[in-house]
Amino acid sequence: MCGIVGYTGKSKAAPFIIEGLKRLEYRGYDSAGVAVIQGGAFEVAKKTGRVANLEKEAARHKLTGTTGIGHTRWATHGGVTDANAHPHVSSDGKIALIHNGVIENYNAIKTFLLGKGYTFKSETDTEVLCNLIAYHYEKEATVAGESRLLESVRKTLHHVEGTYGIVALCIDSPDELITARRGSPLIIGLGQGENIVASDVAAIVSRTQNVIYLNDREIARLTPGEFSISTLDETDIVPVIDKVDWSIDDADKGGHEHYMIKEIFEQPEALENAMRGRISEDGSTAQFGGLNISPGEFRGIERFMFCACGTALHACMVTEHLIETFARIPVECDHASEFRYRNTPLFRDTLFFVMSQSGETIDTLAALREAKRKGYKVLAVNNVVGSTIAREADGGIYQHVGPEVGVASTKAFTSQLLIGALLALYIGRMRDLSFGAGMRYVNALKGAPDLVRKVLNQAPQIKEIARRYAHYSDMLFLGRLSLYPIALEGALKLKEISYIHAEAYPAAEMKHGPIALISEKCPSVFLAPKGEIFNKIVSSMQEIKARKGPIIAVVTEGTELPAGLADDVIFIPECHDAVLPIVASIPMQLLSYYIAVERGCDVDKPRNLAKSVTVE
Ligand code: AGP
Repeated sequence: MCGIVGYTGKSKAAPFIIEGLKRLEYRGYDSAGVAVIQGGAFEVAKKTGRVANLEKEAARHKLTGTTGIGHTRWATHGGVTDANAHPHVSSDGKIALIHNGVIENYNAIKTFLLGKGYTFKSETDTEVLCNLIAYHYEKEATVAGESRLLESVRKTLHHVEGTYGIVALCIDSPDELITARRGSPLIIGLGQGENIVASDVAAIVSRTQNVIYLNDREIARLTPGEFSISTLDETDIVPVIDKVDWSIDDADKGGHEHYMIKEIFEQPEALENAMRGRISEDGSTAQFGGLNISPGEFRGIERFMFCACGTALHACMVTEHLIETFARIPVECDHASEFRYRNTPLFRDTLFFVMSQSGETIDTLAALREAKRKGYKVLAVNNVVGSTIAREADGGIYQHVGPEVGVASTKAFTSQLLIGALLALYIGRMRDLSFGAGMRYVNALKGAPDLVRKVLNQAPQIKEIARRYAHYSDMLFLGRLSLYPIALEGALKLKEISYIHAEAYPAAEMKHGPIALISEKCPSVFLAPKGEIFNKIVSSMQEIKARKGPIIAVVTEGTELPAGLADDVIFIPECHDAVLPIVASIPMQLLSYYIAVERGCDVDKPRNLAKSVTVE
């Protein structure tokens, strides 16, 4: 969840590291810090709050060193204080460390180190890890120069339980970085006379597009001109150098006030990118390059199981609806965090899918590993090429929507919906879905980007509506069938970025309890498109109106609601069932965005959240 940047090279490390931390700030933003080696000592600047605070603090420290490490923190152990911010320096002043993850046995290690005379200034597990490296470094005094820090870190990690992505510096080897991972992503960037390590390629691409994705239980040594990678068990690794296919411009705000609104407006192109190359030549079905499963094997699948978290789980729920409707195969969705502990009875001939924008969500990764451990094939729908989930899955489908920086997922979500719709088509066409129905389905998907553009054009009207609802403290989101997950997503978006309490229900469930909340103080957002249960949803609206609940209705163009029923109406174009969830998501995103802006909330960096959740 935290952001990591390490640099060793010819130029000053701190400006590059701070620039990188700004790009990673969406990962966690309780505090930030940077340490460089200069004049034979560590110079450390750290500050609670945003990277902007750190930048001011760093200016006071005059950081000139050319090797350094920096970190943005999302607190796990210890409160949000300057002392708890990373980097941490060992009490003998030899080692500096940044760390993502959680060291579970830190208490026992701390007791051991206190007994050896080490002292602590913070409440963090990271400072304990840092001092344990210092302890081993002291013991490894006989190891030849360039291996000593590497061996000390290796020894330390053998004693550690939990997860980590770390970068260590040592005062005795001023141009060396040691980095290792278990459960937290780390990427090495190979530059010209400089090498970088970061938790996210966004911090690397301004200097190089040549990267190596470190695997769990690997450890690397970087100097300005060299790098080497081995396993914790000392087996040398022959690195695979990948090329990142996006540039720094893709991660900028492009003139928008927030990443979130930029990404909302990028959705038509994002959908086109997610669809590119995935329609069969005859235009009646979908095709995928990386499933690593033959059509024959696919045809033998009798059940699907989808695991994910948050927004990605909502995309899975829509996919469930589409696969069951168009392919007539049972699908189960589960919270990835629950799946692992529920010990769900599983059928043979089940194919697993996980969905994850980041590909680093630890709960989703754990679900993937649990399913694989049970002998199932697991495919991943994922946006970040080279992410841990992408690498551990047996195959999968990349979303191809470019970097998503806003903490509230938008374009990644609608591209997951599109991929879910393509999957339902692919499976449906293997079974009962006719050639003609397949063609109509494909044409509808091809039209989705334009329909989304049409809804985006209503942003000014939705902004006006949002202004009128920004002062409420509670809201209900109600939808049915494939739009129930969209109601869940609408409520999640609103909670995340505006801090308004919001809940979602299938519209007809509302009368089984939630209706008790209804009054003039609790508005409801109804997703009420044309269709066979439209009249039922109108009845639910009547029940709300009878209790003075304000209503925002999202309806199909041309719909006339009974006079006075809805206080505000947002129109969406009529569309195919496979496209409806995508189109209906746009008003949800715009409403929550404009409400949050009206309330003065920090939309891209909502409190307590982080873009990818890499702790359990
Ligand atoms: C989305 O707005 C949320 N920030 C969050 O629910 C997110 O979708 C969830 O943490 C899963 O992330 P992932 O897709 O990267 O796995």
